Amino acid sequence: MNKFKLLVIILCLILVGCSNQESEPRHTDSKKHEKQQSQKKEDKHNKTVKNGVTYIDEILIVNKDISLPEHFNPGENEVAREALHKLLNAGNKKGYHLSSASGFRSYQTQEQLFNRYVQRDGEEAANKYSAKPGHSEHQTGLTYDVVSENTDTNFKESFGKTEEGQWIKRNAHKYGFIVRYPKDKTHITGYQYEPWHIRYVGKDTAKTLYNHRETLEEYLDLYPK
Ligand code: DAL
Ligand code: ZN
Repeated sequence: MNKFKLLVIILCLILVGCSNQESEPRHTDSKKHEKQQSQKKEDKHNKTVKNGVTYIDEILIVNKDISLPEHFNPGENEVAREALHKLLNAGNKKGYHLSSASGFRSYQTQEQLFNRYVQRDGEEAANKYSAKPGHSEHQTGLTYDVVSENTDTNFKESFGKTEEGQWIKRNAHKYGFIVRYPKDKTHITGYQYEPWHIRYVGKDTAKTLYNHRETLEEYLDLYPK
């Protein structure tokens, strides 16, 4: 091999070495940046876990990823019950016939329900409309399923299109409730559209979520925006 060829080979090796050295820190930098960004989002919120129950900014959170312990059995929340009665009374004054068909459920009740749905429809389908035991908001005592005497759309997506369903959608927040599983957010909540399932979060939070059209997951930065 002549000296020229040898020189070219050495130069090539040096160049390859340099470019490798450069690409590695760039990669590490972007990973670091991603980590810092998600850390920043988490830092915006105050997360506490009390006896296995997760609160973020003092809002009890339960979803597909965050569960409640089996022993958590608070019964119906009195503040939520009072707010529900105010909501239903306001709707019924408008001429609707609203009531609540399902409220607090224990872990065991949710377990029985979920197992029954799995037997009927299979686990994949059941997971879209029913929470596994430990993962249902009904176990918090802060959640209700609203139905109407006037319609045969109870527990159906089409309830959202009825006057009653529309009224719930537009007014629940005034009483501290959110429609927890909205239509266009199934990829975020993990559940199908449930226009009847309302969750008490208090008036301020409910108004903010309503005005921003956000789910709890988005509001609490549990889902990338
Ligand atoms: N249907 C809702 C997701 C539940 O089972 O809690
Ligand atoms: Zn429900």
